[in-house]
Amino acid sequence: MATTATWLDDAVFYEIYPQSFRDTNADGIGDLQGIIDKLDYVAYLGCTAIWLNPCFVSPFRDAGYDVSDYCRVAPRYGTNEDLRRLFVEAHSRGLRVILDLVPGHTSSDHPWFIESMKADRNAYTDRYVWTDNIWKGVKGMGVLTGISERNGAVATNFFSHQPALNYGYANPDPEEPWQQPVDAPGPLATRQAMKDVMAFWLDLGCDGFRCDMAHSLVKEDEGERETIKVWRDMRAFLDETHPEAILISEWGIPDHSLQGGFDMDFLLHFGPSHYNDLFRVEKPYFAGEGDVSAFVARYEESREASGGKGLMCIPSGNHDMDRLAGHIPAELLEISFAFLLSMPGAPFIYYGDEIGMDHVRGLKSVEGSYWRTGARTPMQWDDSLNAGFSSAPASELYIPLDPNPARPTVAAELDDDDSLLHRVRRLIEIRRAHPALQSTGDVSFVYAEKDAYPFVYLRSEVDAAGEVVEGGERVLVVLNPSATPASFEAPEGLVPGEALYEFGSPVSQSGRSVTVPAKSAGFYLVG
Ligand code: NOJ
Repeated sequence: MATTATWLDDAVFYEIYPQSFRDTNADGIGDLQGIIDKLDYVAYLGCTAIWLNPCFVSPFRDAGYDVSDYCRVAPRYGTNEDLRRLFVEAHSRGLRVILDLVPGHTSSDHPWFIESMKADRNAYTDRYVWTDNIWKGVKGMGVLTGISERNGAVATNFFSHQPALNYGYANPDPEEPWQQPVDAPGPLATRQAMKDVMAFWLDLGCDGFRCDMAHSLVKEDEGERETIKVWRDMRAFLDETHPEAILISEWGIPDHSLQGGFDMDFLLHFGPSHYNDLFRVEKPYFAGEGDVSAFVARYEESREASGGKGLMCIPSGNHDMDRLAGHIPAELLEISFAFLLSMPGAPFIYYGDEIGMDHVRGLKSVEGSYWRTGARTPMQWDDSLNAGFSSAPASELYIPLDPNPARPTVAAELDDDDSLLHRVRRLIEIRRAHPALQSTGDVSFVYAEKDAYPFVYLRSEVDAAGEVVEGGERVLVVLNPSATPASFEAPEGLVPGEALYEFGSPVSQSGRSVTVPAKSAGFYLVG
């Protein structure tokens, strides 16, 4: 269960949306060579790993989450050989690379689906969730009908061009024989196909996978129990063949996902985690007038329920949600990063968040992006043509650039020692120098009251068994994004000592009472 790799312990990930990172062949769309060219930048930032969104052959009606060939790089990004080279180049800089595995559905253009649409039985007849009558739907799911000679409706997993792969039903209805048990030949073949895909890319040199909609595999699965079992089986396969491969789930319920053998689960904009309370509600906590207590309560519950089986990740954002800078004022972004980079679980920085790229409003949907377009605009490298993203005419860019003449760029921020980029880089450096602040270090919440500031927690070094090391390093994290000073009573023995990091004015103490200045953040060693 879970990987044997230990590199997640001090990992910091950088998410790259390949379309929008760097275009080297002037077609207006980013490519693998562009990513290779910028690996030094990712390493300079201090990141140790990359998550690459899907880069496989696809009709791109959901930006590549609609795969039509799992084992071939989409020509617009390059070739399999380019991806192999990316792995080699990344590894030579100490960077790992995880790919995006989309196990729940394919594109309706996938050859498996084309075969499954045929009336005559073939090897792919049971690859998707088909009913046995064109007028019969699938409870709780969208369906595609009237598209084939096969008499049935097929369940869709997300958009209606993404038919659901068949992993079976948790409790198939005997009256509906098209609902297959999880261990029927069709569902088992789907599972095997996904194992083959993983092995293919791991053999080419990738380090693991972020698994899309990982919760969505088995249908009508109360408590997601059968889906958890499917993932355990996938993990067992990796344990035998590629024990170092890591698996990270897009699930949003660590209490479930980590039982499936995932090394880490994302807390996300959907699901019960209250992640949105931090950055993406009307009054986000890190914008200075919100509440963190529900997030903390749920975090504690998840930690308890998952029994230390794996990690929980709090990403800065991703390609599905509004950009952080679209909700948090620029002057407070650093405090958000102080939080993101001092919590357990490996942090994920969404490309461009480290320079404060804005959420661009009012853009048209591109390749199924809809509400997400504004978070997917091209990376802003410098002041040259198209912000250094591409030399194609501006009208041919995949998504238009942020039109704001004051938009941030990497080049300008590299030149300014006080920029967000340098501050994020320093925070990463501090995290990586202090085991207490890293992925597996313990966290205990000292002050996280309802509708109140500051937010205070203690990070402690742990041993290999996850136990807090007696006399080990302890770091008190004190965050106050609000516009007024706030105070808390330090518990016995937890008075802030030497500062490892400070933003804004330092805290002041009178006995055990600690006053935290407005708009400030600090990491303090405690004895
Ligand atoms: C989650 C992905 O992050 C999102 O971009 C995609 O549209 C859906 N899953 C469907 O695969």
